[in-house]
Amino acid sequence: MSQSIESVLTENRSFAPSEEFARAAQVKSMAQYEEMYRRADEDPEGYWAEVASELAWTKKWSKTLDWKLPDAKWFVGGQLNASVSCLDRHVATWRKNKAALLWEGEPGDTRVLTYGQLHREVCKAANALIALGVKKGDFVAIYLPMIPEAAIAMLACARIGAPHTVVFGGFSAEALGDRIKDAKAKIVITSDGGWRRGAIVPLKENVDRAVEGTSIEKVVVVKRCANDVAMKDGRDVWWHDTVDVASPRHEAESFDSEHTLFTLYTSGTTGKPKGILHTTGGYLTGAYYTTKLVFDLRDEDIFWCTADIGWVTGHSYVVYGPLANGATVLMYEGAPNQPGPDRFWDIIAKWGVTVFYTAPTAIRAFMRWGDQWPAKHDLSSLRLLGSVGEPINPEAWMWYREQIGHNRCPIVDTWWQTETGSIMISPLPGATPTKPGSATRPLPGIAADVVHKDGTPAKANEGGFLVIKKPWPSMLRTIFGDHERFQKTYFGEVAGCYFAGDGARKDADGYFWVMGRVDDVINVAGHRLSTMEVESALVSHPKVAEAAVVGRPDDLKGQAIVAFVTPRQGVAADEALAKVLREHVSSQIGALARPEEIRFAEALPKTRSGKIMRRLLREVASGSKSRGDTTTLEDQGVLERLAQSFAQEE
Ligand code: PRX
Repeated sequence: MSQSIESVLTENRSFAPSEEFARAAQVKSMAQYEEMYRRADEDPEGYWAEVASELAWTKKWSKTLDWKLPDAKWFVGGQLNASVSCLDRHVATWRKNKAALLWEGEPGDTRVLTYGQLHREVCKAANALIALGVKKGDFVAIYLPMIPEAAIAMLACARIGAPHTVVFGGFSAEALGDRIKDAKAKIVITSDGGWRRGAIVPLKENVDRAVEGTSIEKVVVVKRCANDVAMKDGRDVWWHDTVDVASPRHEAESFDSEHTLFTLYTSGTTGKPKGILHTTGGYLTGAYYTTKLVFDLRDEDIFWCTADIGWVTGHSYVVYGPLANGATVLMYEGAPNQPGPDRFWDIIAKWGVTVFYTAPTAIRAFMRWGDQWPAKHDLSSLRLLGSVGEPINPEAWMWYREQIGHNRCPIVDTWWQTETGSIMISPLPGATPTKPGSATRPLPGIAADVVHKDGTPAKANEGGFLVIKKPWPSMLRTIFGDHERFQKTYFGEVAGCYFAGDGARKDADGYFWVMGRVDDVINVAGHRLSTMEVESALVSHPKVAEAAVVGRPDDLKGQAIVAFVTPRQGVAADEALAKVLREHVSSQIGALARPEEIRFAEALPKTRSGKIMRRLLREVASGSKSRGDTTTLEDQGVLERLAQSFAQEE
């Protein structure tokens, strides 16, 4: 990440889509894009109504948008069933026998489900959930590896109007328990394990610990790894004993457009993750529309989004978006370097993947592993590449273009968030000339801008806050159980606008350059974490008096977690304690939150009002030389001097 965005701007490298690509694309030129953008801007309701009408509605809405900031209702009075738009309507056509899901497990086992088969499995799962007592409005937690049952479970929940809360399999029992409690989930769907780097992830064991003292009545367990797991009588049931015997016929009921489709927990600036709530009609419209435009999907495509369904990217671009478009999606269970560093390239060649969507942190890992790995495989099926989750540094962008796309495939760098539900800023692959490191322009219908705190627009290349000035269908509706926090977090910072929490600038061409978070959220290997969350985990350890957590730039992960810890009186601050604390965080949240570095300090630098001086800690953690100091916190004197100089500045 050595090259600065500025140097790229100066170089102004730009790659136009090839004529051949543009000819067949949904949006073929910038003129067409501009025209769509203008139309959407002048008549957002008309524009979105047209998009939404491409889904399967059983009752047309009476009003397209009801907007009383911060509350949006889209397609008011309309009724639909998300699983019908994703399945039934395709099953009624030639797509019935088209592959919906191509799946490969980490050990190399494979499964293919056609739309017809996926529909049957979803209907069976829906009937099984009903038999287990799940009713419309009941929350279902899903804690599964990347196996077809994950998508089946989500769609079955959607089918019966039971909102799902998918929890990433890398989260710990503790984190799963917190999410189950917050959502008051009635059922959790899990498996006996999942394969990751040749080992079994003990999902069921985590569930057993997580559900103690919660509202969970039933645990449904998919047999994936055939390992021994304890089944609790009266609570635990096998998926194959309940789903496989259920009827494959299920008449889907339609739900109100604003019926909750799911909540998904993500990190904010406090220690408590937020349940981001999305509703049916608006979310599905956004997922459908962006998949179609950004990935330019055609019936013959094989679309592989490498995200886990535990993240919003997996929701929108493994399940809802591609299936609503009748596309073929590929799903892979395991690690990118199992058994070797070329597993992904092997999968692309083997299945003939045409559109590939992954994260910069993965691209940087591939770069590090070496060009020989992709070179070993035939990647000529690829026609489009995507990036998501964090800013992509220009070096990684160029490597992706050259080594994976062979200078032939456009790259779509897509900016969005759990809260936005679907892609907001991205090139359109047949139209937008791309610049390495820029997510380019907002999609038609998305009123994104860069502004100052008072809402005035930033000048070209001037940094500011990334905001969205008009409502869009797939925007979050609330933070589950905390509408006030929703209002304050997203609509309380810049008057009249949705505040994303990211800093950005727009260049003279109106291209967006997203610079990263401006709050206490950090992005570690594309995983979003709150510094407070990690701090809470640290101070919950009996040997810790106080802790402060910051992110420092990391070549591979984007950011790495550095924790400054003051141990309790009489506790030895040594490597053994650091190890214990790293493990403690891992067990409290998950391995993704394990601090890279723990630094001990007698005391943490604070302002007179008692606030921890994070900016100073960030400088110390990143070993910034700007102040002529490469200090460690053990040297309290240096820290104090630095703190004084910061205090004078503030
Ligand atoms: O900081 C931005 C970064 O990821 C955050 C959203 O994280 P999450 O809700 O977990 O969703 C990730 C997948 C959509 C944003 O606030 N981010 C996401 N995509 C990009 C990005 N930063 C720069 N460029 C991107 N393309």
